[in-house]
Amino acid sequence: MGFEQYHEPAGELTAEVRTFARMITSLTEEAEAIGWYEQRISLEPDKEARAIMENAQHEEMKHFGMDLEFLLRKKPQWKKTLQGILFKPGDIVKNGDEAEEASE
Ligand SMILES: [Fe+2]
Repeated sequence: MGFEQYHEPAGELTAEVRTFARMITSLTEEAEAIGWYEQRISLEPDKEARAIMENAQHEEMKHFGMDLEFLLRKKPQWKKTLQGILFKPGDIVKNGDEAEEASE
């Protein structure tokens, strides 16, 4: 168990910032797990094993979403930016540029 999520002395950080850092680390780990399962599933020849891994990957997606929602509730500007990008049709880069501008 490491403490790599802190880039500044943990004792100088507020409890709120330490929680935020832990949740960022958790979000990263959930994203990594989704990617790892994607690779395993693509190579697994056993149908039943693949189904179990797909189920596990789906759970990691839920964890990722909950972590992200927690973080967005703490960062209104981040939330506003993502509201202009996520679940929207159209050009992703254009939506991103417009969302960034709108959230400043
Ligand atoms: Fe998870």
